Amino acid sequence: MRLLIAGCGYVGTELGLRFGGPGHQVWGLRREPGSLPKPILPLAADLLDPKLSERLPPADHVVYAASADASDPDAYRAAYVDGVTNLLEALVEVGAPVERFIFVSSTAVYGDAAGGWVDEGTPPSPESFRGELVLEGERRVLSGPFPGVILRLGGIYGPGRTRLLERVRSGEARCPPGGSIWSNRIHRTDAAGILAHLLTREAPGEVYIGVDDEPASRCEVYRFLAELLDAPSPKEDTGATSSRSNKRCSNRRIRASGYHFSFPSFREGYRAMVAESS
Ligand SMILES: NC(=O)c1ccc[n+]([C@@H]2O[C@H](COP(=O)([O-])OP(=O)(O)OC[C@H]3O[C@@H](n4cnc5c(N)ncnc54)[C@H](OP(=O)(O)O)[C@@H]3O)[C@@H](O)[C@H]2O)c1
Repeated sequence: MRLLIAGCGYVGTELGLRFGGPGHQVWGLRREPGSLPKPILPLAADLLDPKLSERLPPADHVVYAASADASDPDAYRAAYVDGVTNLLEALVEVGAPVERFIFVSSTAVYGDAAGGWVDEGTPPSPESFRGELVLEGERRVLSGPFPGVILRLGGIYGPGRTRLLERVRSGEARCPPGGSIWSNRIHRTDAAGILAHLLTREAPGEVYIGVDDEPASRCEVYRFLAELLDAPSPKEDTGATSSRSNKRCSNRRIRASGYHFSFPSFREGYRAMVAESS
């Protein structure tokens, strides 16, 4: 496989490392590719560059995993709509023989479901510019020139992403008031594992959700981490809850396609993270 990972960061690098063996070539495209490990071939380019086609390698598979530089509509439009549109056009311009184009999306496209379950059959209903613009990126890929696959990831955690652990340790992580707010997550190993699975599987479907088996209330996760870290139990927040995305995402479709999770829930994932760092 000749794989181009466009936006080769936290997840993209983990994915690229899986395609280092014989018969594969993998390019990691980003603006600052200096830190990418072998065997990923660093490709310095800006996805928004009008001359992007001049920099493209002869890829036959593409994973688009760029993220926004800031949490505002302009940055989201640049990363999820303009960047992917420019890349699709550049690939057409060079006549790249792309057999599969995977777009890494987000469960934010579903917005709020009042704590109910959502799956790939649930119509997207974003509540913010984040979900709206990511959804627009999905549409560009699915209506684009190559066979497209969408992977909607939950919150990504794993080695090096330790902010939540630090917030629990310091007592800053507080339980939202008034009952459960569900959250959905995926370990980096499984995010990359699912992408590798979708790259190599014959005739995948168009849309998958990538989350682990166990949606959990934020408070349950905080309490589990507090125990794991021997930190004080999290206090309850006194202000109003700010969550507008209370939903439980189902991973039934990706499981049914034959993917086996390394970290089926936050418990296994965080235990491994804490064990590795101690
Ligand atoms: N983080 C989460 O919890 C979460 C949840 C759901 C979905 N996702 C999605 O999952 C995907 C992967 O996330 P991640 O955590 O691996 O992101 P990440 O570590 O931030 O990596 C994204 C990479 O994109 C590159 N990039 C951004 N703009 C670019 C541009 N204009 N041209 C070229 N490269 C560009 C950045 O590198 P340079 O700065 O060097 O260019 C960065 O390394 C993203 O699409 C993200 O939105 C994330």
